[in-house]
Amino acid sequence: MFGPPGSGKGTYASRLSVKLSLPHISTGDLVRDEVKNQTNMGKHINEFLVQGKLVPDTLICQLLQKRISQPDCANGFILDGFPRTIPQAQELEKISTTDLVINLDVPDEVIVERLSTRLICRNCAAVYNERTLKPRKEGRCDRCDGELYKREDDRPQVILERLEVYRKQTHPLLKHYQAKNLVRTVSNRQADVPPERIVEGIIQLIHNEAA
Ligand code: AP5
Ligand code: MG
Repeated sequence: MFGPPGSGKGTYASRLSVKLSLPHISTGDLVRDEVKNQTNMGKHINEFLVQGKLVPDTLICQLLQKRISQPDCANGFILDGFPRTIPQAQELEKISTTDLVINLDVPDEVIVERLSTRLICRNCAAVYNERTLKPRKEGRCDRCDGELYKREDDRPQVILERLEVYRKQTHPLLKHYQAKNLVRTVSNRQADVPPERIVEGIIQLIHNEAA
């Protein structure tokens, strides 16, 4: 799942994961776990996270490699937010193949609106939204009853920085995958199209490829 911050990578990948029985791997969640567990790497990584900058390639590749060597990844996996640079894409090519790149195209104004109203479960990292995807019980996760919180990098200034980083460092990577004819773009120009509808569209795309 490829796209700017707040484009829905996590929201759709978590639903696809259930429908396709494949693990959902968010490198954002992997780095936030390191920070939560206060590992040495986590302390170092947090400096990048809070500023909205990319974590260095070597660290992120290390975390990814460790995760995809787990047995549940043997039959494939859905990557959310990886790769974000050419060196990361090259590293991925050494350890796995890429079947499809789902490029989420969402306008900046929708992104800013979504991120400033996003809520995350502190326990299982499920994603909600105060306006469009409310939890059943205020402040608690539907799945595990964990506490919902706002990510530190969802402050307006950091959102703008993340958008800029995406434009400069990550968006150019699309050309790399376009040259391999792997990119399929899914546009969502409105803030309130139900995620299930977008997920159905992505599954259709995947089936078309397999046919
Ligand atoms: P990461 O956690 O991946 O953040 P991001 O890329 O900025 O993307 P987000 O998680 O903010 O957005 P999303 O696209 O998942 O959208 P979501 O589904 O939540 O990375 C964080 C940081 O980690 C980076 O800044 C970097 O420092 C580091 N990092 C991670 N990977 C790295 C890498 N490969 N290299 C280097 N550094 C890396 O949706 C957003 C909101 O919209 C939610 O509230 C959701 O409920 C709502 N929403 C979504 N779709 C819909 C819909 N259809 N209708 C209504 N509401 C919707
Ligand atoms: Mg995410």
